[in-house]
Amino acid sequence: MHTITLINGDGIGPEISASVVKIIKASGLDIDWDVQTAGADVIEAEGVPLPQRVLDSIKKNKVALKAPVTTPIGKGFRSVNVQLRKSLDLFANIRPCKNLPGVKTRFDNVDLVVVRENTEDLYAGIEEQIDNDTAHSIKVITRKASERICKFAFDYAVKNNRKEVCVVTKANIMKLSDGLFLESFRHVANDYPQIAKKEILVDNLCMQLVQDPSRFDVLVLPNLYGDIVSDLCAGLIGGLGVAQGANIGLDCAVFEPVHGSAPDIKGQNKANPTALLLSAVEMLKYIGENSYADKIEKALFKTLSQGYKTCDLGGNLSTVEFTDKIIANL
Ligand code: NAI
Repeated sequence: MHTITLINGDGIGPEISASVVKIIKASGLDIDWDVQTAGADVIEAEGVPLPQRVLDSIKKNKVALKAPVTTPIGKGFRSVNVQLRKSLDLFANIRPCKNLPGVKTRFDNVDLVVVRENTEDLYAGIEEQIDNDTAHSIKVITRKASERICKFAFDYAVKNNRKEVCVVTKANIMKLSDGLFLESFRHVANDYPQIAKKEILVDNLCMQLVQDPSRFDVLVLPNLYGDIVSDLCAGLIGGLGVAQGANIGLDCAVFEPVHGSAPDIKGQNKANPTALLLSAVEMLKYIGENSYADKIEKALFKTLSQGYKTCDLGGNLSTVEFTDKIIANL
């Protein structure tokens, strides 16, 4: 039996986690979930939002499924998500974006993958209050992390039969930092003659993505652009409720949706569990349980094709009703 760390998260996290755990169990796969709490709820008892026990659990089990955790905006503790990715050196954030059967969007031909650098850039958290009216935030880009993520993107392309990798920067303005990311890409690209290469500025990318997303295949980006562009790409395939993700390191991997804790619909039995479920499907493939992954994915696709949907996709099913429809299709 597999033992997997489960972070239920907060906001809609517990509702969508319960849904996914129920679906995996109904598929017949037995998983021993090592449930770990994190975020604002544990601060009072344990003093920090990301206790060491959570990191130890993931290091031990090597794999985790994670629902979203709220980060206070503008003040309060540092993001648990950013800390987790940094502490475990989960350097690659992979966010595949592909149309889902039965989910009508503006485009029918979206099939791209966002590969986001996950450990540095403006997310390094180096901020300084210069005076009352001035704050600085330092953008950290290193050759080591940039070459590592670019190599990951090319290897991913080779392994997954992708044709092109496109690097996304703003190297015309941030000539040193984004310039180094671009230089690293060009250096690594030399080792992959079989893969086509493209270079684009992030503003132009955003415009082209909303005009014709079929122009893109694998995108590799520094942390901040990767975060923003992956939400844009989620919008191309039906929204945050369906956008999956994975954080991969050399020793362990944490699978989580692109979306956050959605406080606006918390506790209302409205959240779409699809994004976390698709993240879990990738997790099952990662641990070699391909037949269960396929079975669950097929049941999800069938359910959506039958027109059963949660509110975010224009349907009227609750989280629990949608979950039960998927289980009926297993
Ligand atoms: P959000 O992704 O939580 O929500 C944005 C919009 O999408 C909301 O209207 C929400 O209702 C909707 N939405 C998101 N997921 C949905 C789902 N599964 N089903 C149906 N509708 C869904 O983004 P927001 O509001 O900017 O962030 C809320 C909190 O989440 C913040 O504290 C943020 O820091 C945190 N966050 C955590 C992440 C993580 O744990 N990996 C990632 C992104 C944000």
